[in-house]
Amino acid sequence: MFFSTILAATAAFSLASALSSSLQQVAGFTSTPTKAKMYVYIPTNKLAKPPIVVAIHHCAGTGPSYFSETQGYAQNADTHGFIVIYPSSPSSGGCWDVSSTASLTHNGGGDSQTIVNMVKYAETHYGGDPDKVYMTGSSSGAMMTNVLAGAYPDVFKAGTLYGGVPDGCFYVAGATAGMATPAWNSQCSGGKLIKTAQQWGDQVRSYYPGYTGSRPKMLIFHGTIDTTLYYANFGEELKEWSNVLGVSFNHNQTNTPISGYTKMIYGDGTKLVGVSCYNVGHTPPVRVPDDLAWFGIA
Ligand SMILES: *[C@@H]1O[C@H](CO)[C@@H](O)[C@H](O)[C@H]1NC(C)=O
Repeated sequence: MFFSTILAATAAFSLASALSSSLQQVAGFTSTPTKAKMYVYIPTNKLAKPPIVVAIHHCAGTGPSYFSETQGYAQNADTHGFIVIYPSSPSSGGCWDVSSTASLTHNGGGDSQTIVNMVKYAETHYGGDPDKVYMTGSSSGAMMTNVLAGAYPDVFKAGTLYGGVPDGCFYVAGATAGMATPAWNSQCSGGKLIKTAQQWGDQVRSYYPGYTGSRPKMLIFHGTIDTTLYYANFGEELKEWSNVLGVSFNHNQTNTPISGYTKMIYGDGTKLVGVSCYNVGHTPPVRVPDDLAWFGIA
């Protein structure tokens, strides 16, 4: 007991001291349209025009807790000079609003727009490169990553996500931005909201009508035995983005990036890849090197 306490303390100390900088809450960020808090990791050797990675936590999480769980981003920020934003949900349960029309729609308000405002803050105050903005998230943060890809394709170049649902799948009629507890869609979470690729694609496009620019490339991880956001959501996400990105299923690569995982390659594999994680529940562990390779910044 005594010995293991010492070991744990030593491990925590060496992890913290291995970073060049620390996580800070951005007091100057005026949090609108919702009250989400902005945390940021800025490495000592930040590039003059650093790429921006937005790392979005799961329900019951916070910006600081997700920072601790995914220290690999900060470690790589030290090596490569990018910055990492960790938004912190304003809701009581720590979930993100991915249910209201406001949050689902371009410039419609909601948590999605607050997160985009954090990106703009980082571009203005830290010199962040608007052409190198990326996002990642787990569970509720994975859902938000899909929502941001749909509503703000002009802001983000790429996304990775761990255990989410399609953009728009969690929509709940009557849900409003800023609810104390964002609305939950159990039909979607249960994997029972099934649409055609065209229907999903039309839904995504409806969130930013008239937009014809580029859209973020997506790397999607999902566990086959997920009982929080059922596995069927993985297939629906792939249908959705295959339609939006205009790529169709090409081939599988088995046992990669690790044994038991299957990579599903769409098109030439540069716009959409699914990773089916065999016998994994909710959610697959974050794979920082795969994320950064997908973003092209490490
Ligand atoms: C590709 O892999 C997925 C996930 O394991 C599987 O459901 C699908 O049937 C595979 N497709 C082909 C053509 O092998």
